[in-house]
Amino acid sequence: MNRSGTRAMLTTMLLGTLLTAFGAAALGDDGHDVRDQHEHDTLAAGRHIFRFDTFGDEDFWGGSLELHQAIEGSRLGGVGAGVSPKTALAVGLKVDVDALPGSLVRDLRAGRVNLDDPAVTVALLRLNAVVGITGVFQYPSSTSLKSIGIQCALCHSTVDDSFAPGIGHRLDGWANRDLNVGAIVSLAPNLSVVAKLLNVNQATVRKVLTAWGPGKFDAELLLDGKGFRPDGKTAATLIPPAFGLAGVNLHTWTAWGSIPYWNAFVATLEMHGKGSFSDARLSDPSQFPVAARAGFDDVRAETDLVSPKLPALHQYQLALAAPRAPRGSFNPAAAERGSKVFDNARCNSCHVPPTYSEPGWNLHTAQEVGVDDFQANRAPAKGYRTAPLRGLWTHMKGGFYHDGRFATLLDVVNHYDVLFGLHLSAQDKSDLVEYLKSL
Ligand code: HEC
Ligand code: HEC
Repeated sequence: MNRSGTRAMLTTMLLGTLLTAFGAAALGDDGHDVRDQHEHDTLAAGRHIFRFDTFGDEDFWGGSLELHQAIEGSRLGGVGAGVSPKTALAVGLKVDVDALPGSLVRDLRAGRVNLDDPAVTVALLRLNAVVGITGVFQYPSSTSLKSIGIQCALCHSTVDDSFAPGIGHRLDGWANRDLNVGAIVSLAPNLSVVAKLLNVNQATVRKVLTAWGPGKFDAELLLDGKGFRPDGKTAATLIPPAFGLAGVNLHTWTAWGSIPYWNAFVATLEMHGKGSFSDARLSDPSQFPVAARAGFDDVRAETDLVSPKLPALHQYQLALAAPRAPRGSFNPAAAERGSKVFDNARCNSCHVPPTYSEPGWNLHTAQEVGVDDFQANRAPAKGYRTAPLRGLWTHMKGGFYHDGRFATLLDVVNHYDVLFGLHLSAQDKSDLVEYLKSL
């Protein structure tokens, strides 16, 4: 190579480095954008974490609660009747059809699979086909469960029912409003760890869990020990969607913090993965007696299986857009009229498009939205976060607002009509509902 050739090469190398450093297109050997590839890899890693990572929580769900034994049943060496596929589907668990081998799909279609047999559930776990639950087996080819762990996808994914109700392709980010978390957890033979944490007996824990019902979970129970509201109803809240969150400031119904804040919180304190987590707010014994006692304000894992995964998990969540309302699921002409009602009624003063939450501080007092402050007071911010409204059509089950107190969108609209003295006509109301369904 002559001197000018060497200089040209050095210049190219230097330029390449500079371009990479400043974030301009960095081309790989085969000419594709290296940055795109990196983003792609991060998203794929994030999706894998969201769907399959237990963060080591099998030591809790299997190890402590022995939930895997309840799934197997006594005939397979566990305890009780076992969980058949029929029972699993009935408590809202979903099956990923893409994880099933062709032969099994054919057998299912032909009705040759015994859906009353817990061994079939265990086989589905072997195939990694139960959304949000991972079976840990005694040894690689064993049919005997050693433990089970749970994932984000358990509550925040469902399936499209393309094969049968509860069996289909994964829909990440969708709230599983069929899932009866309380019923599933209450099957656990050993709830002593939870009972000890809450300072109650196991029968009381079961009473609290079985009151949750489908589509609900109580993320604050292990912080304040409140199983029921003053009106005697469950203190659990609805599982929200985990899509459409990009651009939204505060997260959760009661604005606990940002997405990565909540991810670390959930993975460590709720799923009982092995993670590190800090939040000095949880050391307040008057608001969070259980958390303060247990030292949840500062948790350190010996080997942290959560923190290293937060960046990719966050990126994947931000990439989950709210799915568009399918054609035919709402009346377009009415929705068009309803969008004007939405603006005229000043719904858009809080629900600002495109996120339909406020740009800025998206938190309100209970009084501002005309509800009681029980749930608000269970979080440090003591308010309710303006719920992002995109994809409402995906969670019409279980009701609306944090606890599902309004069974239908019309009930929500009627609530605002009275609260804000809107005097909407019946036509306005139904148009507004069609608009909400179209978001
Ligand atoms: C057992 C069910 C369950 C599991 C498992 C679960 N979540 Fe959630 N998630 C909920 C519930 C219930 C809420 C609402 C909590 C509240 O507001 O008090 C929630 C809230 C959220 C929110 C806030 C959504 C919004 O509208 O701002 C995000 C983000 C989220 N979860 C992500 C995750 C991630 C990531 C994981 C896995 C690390 C996970 N969740 C595991 C039930 C679950
Ligand atoms: C003062 C701010 C504010 C205004 C104005 C407002 N909202 Fe809301 N909206 C909220 C908050 C906060 C929540 C969450 C309440 C909760 O979590 O219990 C909410 C929840 C909702 C929900 C339920 C979402 C879900 O996932 O369950 C719908 C639907 C809704 N609002 C529609 C409207 C409509 C329609 C209007 C106008 C008539 C309106 N909102 C006006 C703050 C507001």
